[in-house]
Amino acid sequence: MFVTVEGVEGAGKSALMKLLVRELERRGISFVRTREPGGCGLGMSLRPLLLDVSSSLDSRAELFLFLADRAQHVADTIRPALSRGDWVLCDRYADSTIAYQGYGRGMDVDWLQTINDYATGGLWPDRTLLLDLPVENGLQRALIRNGREGLSRSEGRFEAEERAFHQRIRDGFLERAARWPERFRVLNAEHAPEVLLGEALSALDLPL
Ligand code: TYD
Repeated sequence: MFVTVEGVEGAGKSALMKLLVRELERRGISFVRTREPGGCGLGMSLRPLLLDVSSSLDSRAELFLFLADRAQHVADTIRPALSRGDWVLCDRYADSTIAYQGYGRGMDVDWLQTINDYATGGLWPDRTLLLDLPVENGLQRALIRNGREGLSRSEGRFEAEERAFHQRIRDGFLERAARWPERFRVLNAEHAPEVLLGEALSALDLPL
């Protein structure tokens, strides 16, 4: 089972992933927890380039770095895990490229779909949990988190974008969820963590 967790900034993906990991362990499900960018060796090297607020990366260069990371990540980590029969729990994947570079930066969404097919060899998640909340609330949460973790300069490139950029991303994610209802489950990210966990587990067909 290939599961991705997606959402706007500050949606609480990491917190939910942590709780999900605990549940999978408790149930004896063997899994790999990973993320993009940075889920493989190549991605770890690309991550600072992609997220540093002071880098003036061209948007096409940015796109191809995300795709390079994804192609390598699929080959090194995701496909091998799925072939072993493990679950893969991945924090962001191709839907983020389509939401951020497509809806956010204005690149052609259909073309991005095709090029993601190419980068992944056609591998799309079995289930995508979309954590949804109003962008202001998410950005507020991300700001607090960054302050706490001292990430304000090194990893804040996307948070630093204008509000309208994030609104387009939220709308883009929701549009994709409406288009592929069998894959996506939209969860209200403002629910209390334990409520959200219950909703995520039932979205993964794991009985409570
Ligand atoms: P990260 O620090 O992992 O933050 P988050 O907790 O929000 O996931 O940063 C990833 C950033 O990169 C995030 O702002 C979304 C962006 N991104 C893209 O623009 N395109 C992509 O394909 C991916 C995977 C991420």
